[in-house]
Amino acid sequence: MRNTNTTAPTTTTTGISPSAGPPPDDYSWVLGGPSESVFARPAGWRGRLAGRLMIWMNRQDEVADHIDVRSGQTVLEVGYGPGGLIRLLAERTEAAKIIGVDPSAGMRAAATRRNRVAVRAGRVDLRLGRADRTGLPDRAVDRVVTVNNVAIWPDLDAGVTELHRVVRPGGTVTIAWHGGTTPPRHARPLILPSSVLARVERALRARFTDVRRAQLPTLDVFTATS
Ligand SMILES: C[S@@+](CC[C@H](N)C(=O)[O-])C[C@H]1O[C@@H](n2cnc3c(N)ncnc32)[C@H](O)[C@@H]1O
Repeated sequence: MRNTNTTAPTTTTTGISPSAGPPPDDYSWVLGGPSESVFARPAGWRGRLAGRLMIWMNRQDEVADHIDVRSGQTVLEVGYGPGGLIRLLAERTEAAKIIGVDPSAGMRAAATRRNRVAVRAGRVDLRLGRADRTGLPDRAVDRVVTVNNVAIWPDLDAGVTELHRVVRPGGTVTIAWHGGTTPPRHARPLILPSSVLARVERALRARFTDVRRAQLPTLDVFTATS
C-alpha cells in the first residue's frame, strides 16, 4: 500500500536555512558544501576519463539483478554516468523502456555511445535531469534505481520526494552506494558513515510503506516500496 503521508520532515537535510531558497546544484547534502569531485560533476576531458574509470571501477551487475525488473516494466536510472547499468538493464531484462536522467551533457554523450542500438530503437531514453527534477510525470515508472549518487544530491528530501512522486504504487525505489560485504580497496574511503545511511533510511521511511536494507558484495542498498 502507498504511504500517502508525504509531510516533509521538520529539519532539512541540507543544513541551509529554508528561507535561503534551494541549495545550488553543485551542493552536496552530505558534505554541507559544493562537491567538486570530477566523479560528481563530470565535464570536459577529465569528465570523460572519470566516466571510463566509473565503468571499470563500479560494478553494476549486482544491482541490475537486485532490482528485479519484470517483463514490460519501465525503469528509471538517476545519475546514469557513463551508462554501464543502463546497458546491463537493456541486455539482461525485458523492460519495455529504460529512462535515464543525469545533469552531465558529457555523460549523456558517453552513455548514448555505450547504448547506441537501444537508444536508436527507442527502448533507452537518456535525458538531462536531476534527482530532484526528473521531468517525468507522476507515477510514470515501475522501478527507480540510483547508484553512487545519493550523497551528491543537493537536498536528500527533495530527491526522495521526487522519486516517490514518479514511481507507481507497488513500484520500488532502490538507492545504492559504495559499501557492501566486500568493498574494493578504491571504494573504501567513499563508504558513508552509519549516521548518513540512517538519514537516507529515515527519508525513505517518511514516504514509503516498506523500506529494506541489504548488503550486496560492493554496495549498501535501500529498497523502498511505494
Ligand atoms: C559518481 S557518478 C556515478 C555514475 C554511475 N551511477 C556509477 O555508479 O558508476 C555520479 C553521477 O551523478 C550525476 N549527478 C550529479 N548530480 C546529480 C543530481 N543532482 N542528480 C542526478 N545525478 C547527478 C553526475 O553527473 C554523474 O554522472
